[in-house]
Amino acid sequence: MKYVCFMGKMALTAAVVLTLLPAAGMYGQSGLFQSQQPKGPWSNKSLSPDQRADLVIAQMTLDEKIQLLHGMGWQTIMAQPESGPATRAITTLGFIPGVPRLGIPDLQMSDCVEGISGAGTKGRYTTALPSAEAMAAAWDPVLSYEIGTMIGHEMRSLGFNMSLGSGINMIREPRNGRTFEYKGEDPLLAGTLAGQELKAEKALHLITDVKHFVANDQDVGRTTVNSVISKRALRESDLLAFQIALRESGAGAVMCSYNRINGTYACENPYTLTDVLKKDLGFKGFVISDWGATQSTVKAAMAGLDVEMPGNDSFGDPLKKAVESGDVPMERLNEMVHRILRTEIDSGIVDDPPQPESPDVMRGFEMAQKIEERGAVLLKNEHGQLPLHAAAIKSIAVIGGHADVGVMSGGGSSQVSPAGGNPVPPPPELLMNPLAAIWLTEVYQRSVPLKGIEDKARGAQVKFDPGTDPAAAAALARSSQVAIVFAVQHESEGIDLKNLSLPGNQDALIEAVAAANPHTIVVLETGGAVLMPWIDKVSAVVEAWYPGIRGSEAIANILFGDVNPSGKLALTFPKSEADIPHPVHNDPPKPDATHPMPKLPGFPGFVAMLMVNGPFFDAVYDEGLKVGYKWYDAENKTPLFPFGYGLSYTTYAYSGLQVQSGKGLEVSFKVRNTGKRAGEEIAQVYLTLPAAAQEPPKRLVGWSKVVLAAGEEKNVTVKVEPLFLSIYNEDKSAWEVVPGEYTVWAGGSSRDLPLSAPVKLEGK
Ligand code: BGC
Repeated sequence: MKYVCFMGKMALTAAVVLTLLPAAGMYGQSGLFQSQQPKGPWSNKSLSPDQRADLVIAQMTLDEKIQLLHGMGWQTIMAQPESGPATRAITTLGFIPGVPRLGIPDLQMSDCVEGISGAGTKGRYTTALPSAEAMAAAWDPVLSYEIGTMIGHEMRSLGFNMSLGSGINMIREPRNGRTFEYKGEDPLLAGTLAGQELKAEKALHLITDVKHFVANDQDVGRTTVNSVISKRALRESDLLAFQIALRESGAGAVMCSYNRINGTYACENPYTLTDVLKKDLGFKGFVISDWGATQSTVKAAMAGLDVEMPGNDSFGDPLKKAVESGDVPMERLNEMVHRILRTEIDSGIVDDPPQPESPDVMRGFEMAQKIEERGAVLLKNEHGQLPLHAAAIKSIAVIGGHADVGVMSGGGSSQVSPAGGNPVPPPPELLMNPLAAIWLTEVYQRSVPLKGIEDKARGAQVKFDPGTDPAAAAALARSSQVAIVFAVQHESEGIDLKNLSLPGNQDALIEAVAAANPHTIVVLETGGAVLMPWIDKVSAVVEAWYPGIRGSEAIANILFGDVNPSGKLALTFPKSEADIPHPVHNDPPKPDATHPMPKLPGFPGFVAMLMVNGPFFDAVYDEGLKVGYKWYDAENKTPLFPFGYGLSYTTYAYSGLQVQSGKGLEVSFKVRNTGKRAGEEIAQVYLTLPAAAQEPPKRLVGWSKVVLAAGEEKNVTVKVEPLFLSIYNEDKSAWEVVPGEYTVWAGGSSRDLPLSAPVKLEGK
């Protein structure tokens, strides 16, 4: 089996477990879309959200307060009651009943990392978007805002008023099974893009959420792992991504993660939740636990957790008792309630609840295609192999990756149900266990690359080979002018990749096809980085990520040149696993007499069997500040493809770097399109800090997406704010600018920086 996992070790999340169950209530029933208009003085919109929240709290009973601080209990949902609040839930995934008498709405939540996953399992259509890693590779804050707008409209049309995304964990472990859900390895890039996406969702009156807070950087063993990491590394990378995203978006919720951080669970960690998030970053929203990640009542509440999801084991009756006994003071309870109410009011879900509509399918298609066209990365293009000239091609072999029926998608809580069903039936042994099937099944979206290619090359003979037998595929490739191999790598939540190699026989397949045809193009559908032992033997490689419902059109447009690729990698592709910070994956240990399986209160009954992978263990992130490209730079390792890298069908030249320092930096330079066709260049700015700062060799401090006609030159200005020049001083618990000589770099990737200029900065 290709994953670090077997049944006893498998980490299904409760969210997916629960989506297997029939919906407790469905559309159009018992008031789901009934407008729950505010009643009372708190409905006065001229008051601030804080004032209005306090006016509501003054009216609330203790039971009503407690009710707002947890989801419907798992047991309650599983019992599928025929009456009561649970019948109003759109899905069993995430539901907190409101207080109708006070006009406080139900919270209806859905994940939305690659489209809205919450309603599809109940038969409602939602758009399957490309993965978050594809979104990140577009490096396009304007596009991210548009993505948020599209997601926001679709959420509202389905009746959801709270989104459970974006995921912005740093890629410290490239085998993490959720790299497809995240936005790469740089905090500025991930935080900025997530910030724009969530800002747009909030503008459409949704509560938004950023996750998983924090240092949840491997998914196997996520409930038992203890992430050991320095405060400085956290603040300058993992937490910085959240800091930026929250500042840009005003997101209403932060989801604390399953893991422990330096010995304390993320959902009961006073340092991360209260000292950093609430005090230092001034976060006014509420902290919500990942599903089943609440491990205590008093400890969690006092550390800063506000809402337990999805059940009531800690923040139901136990919280009520703790308040009655004084273990959790009434002031803290009121603060928890205040945070959730002020967020509901501030986001607009109270004054402007969602109304049902059919989702705007066309808007979704357009967005899915746009993301893929901007996020796909051209990794290799020898001798101008691409774009293909349709009129000149007589025969094309399309091979592998189920390209005759669909495109790969990511699994777990973010899995968007494939419209029309999964065209690739899972193997029968997987179906023996329906829970395993949901988690491990490779789900393909019905967007057919073969058809996209046929549509472009109408005069050519296009033949498909499934790639199961490399010799047969090679024979077809030999008799064709061009061979296009589709290679896939499935990722799913809770399950890390065993390694970074393409699974199954795909490396051998590519080798065989490349040996048979010198015009071999590889299209990768992967969640993150993969190794490419065959890279020197193929003529072109396109990284298409998980391409979404319009993947076929987008990939064909890139292959045939209707779209000039402009995406750049948001994460490093290593040459070998020996080069990554932790060459051997940190698997959870096997239980024995001294290290028994822990009993975690967050996971009742059978869910515990699925969520707890083994005894407690540590993941020591001793690479510290050296995340992603910073590691390769510091360790003098040459990656296969560096962070920020991506080719285009045109070329660019950089000149005229000027740097002005003031409050921050103003970096300007010129970019010229030196090729024959229009293109979009992602021009990047990096900074080397003085040696005294003890930083990795360089960090990304800004970028600009420059649209250039053939031959055109533009001036580019990138402003760098003081925070991105700073280091986090652990002793002073403060950011500071180290005095000394800095170097500013500009260019087309982290390893292609033709311009540099020194700049002296005073300490601050
Ligand atoms: C995942 C979260 C998700 C939640 C609800 C958990 O398993 O870790 O990312 O938001 O389920 O579906």
